[in-house]
Amino acid sequence: MNHLIAPSMLAADFANLQKDIEMVNNSEADWFHLDVMDGIFVPNISFGVPVIEAINKHAKKPLDVHLMIEDPDRYIELFKKAGTDILTVHIEASKNLHRTIQRIHSLDMKAGVSLNPHTPINTLEDIIKDIDMVLIMSVNPGFGGQKFITQSLEKIKKLKKLIHNSGSTAQIEVDGGVGSSNAKELVEAGTDILVAGSFIFKAENPVQTISNLKNLK
Ligand code: DX5
Ligand code: ZN
Repeated sequence: MNHLIAPSMLAADFANLQKDIEMVNNSEADWFHLDVMDGIFVPNISFGVPVIEAINKHAKKPLDVHLMIEDPDRYIELFKKAGTDILTVHIEASKNLHRTIQRIHSLDMKAGVSLNPHTPINTLEDIIKDIDMVLIMSVNPGFGGQKFITQSLEKIKKLKKLIHNSGSTAQIEVDGGVGSSNAKELVEAGTDILVAGSFIFKAENPVQTISNLKNLK
């Protein structure tokens, strides 16, 4: 299994962010997953560009930024300047998704599209070849620490087929309620990147927890 691990910094200690960044730097994690919430697209507000800039100063791994904001086109350039490597927008939040993807690519970032739990895989049919990643939300976006929606597993299998049949090179990322109880099944179903927040940061030994998720048995 050669999947990637992206710890979600939403579950980090915001008063000791540098300490948690160093922990991720010194672990087997592959990316930093950064959740931006605007209080409109989701019923919660998290952090924005200045915090990402600060994280970027210390992070030694790619920044995977997950925008849970309405009309993301307004901020694409700012997130690039903040140090974003992979920028993901929600299909439900962008009116001109194709243009959004073009803008992200023109700024030399990888482009991801995220689907809420209620959004079917077939909505990706006409965009799948243009994107680098699909982020499947396996909880309703807005909060960490929620229970994994089991139906997400079927969605990943469907998505894997769509990617295969269309000749797309998109990777599959899963976000929400990921932990040792479902990680192996998710990777076997076709997941390339596992995002985990509470499971990592609430663990007694986060570095070991990341290693366990990376080296699934
Ligand atoms: C939820 C966020 C997730 C969240 C995952 O809206 O997109 O990245 O932090 O947290 P856990 O792993 O605790 O479900
Ligand atoms: Zn996320």
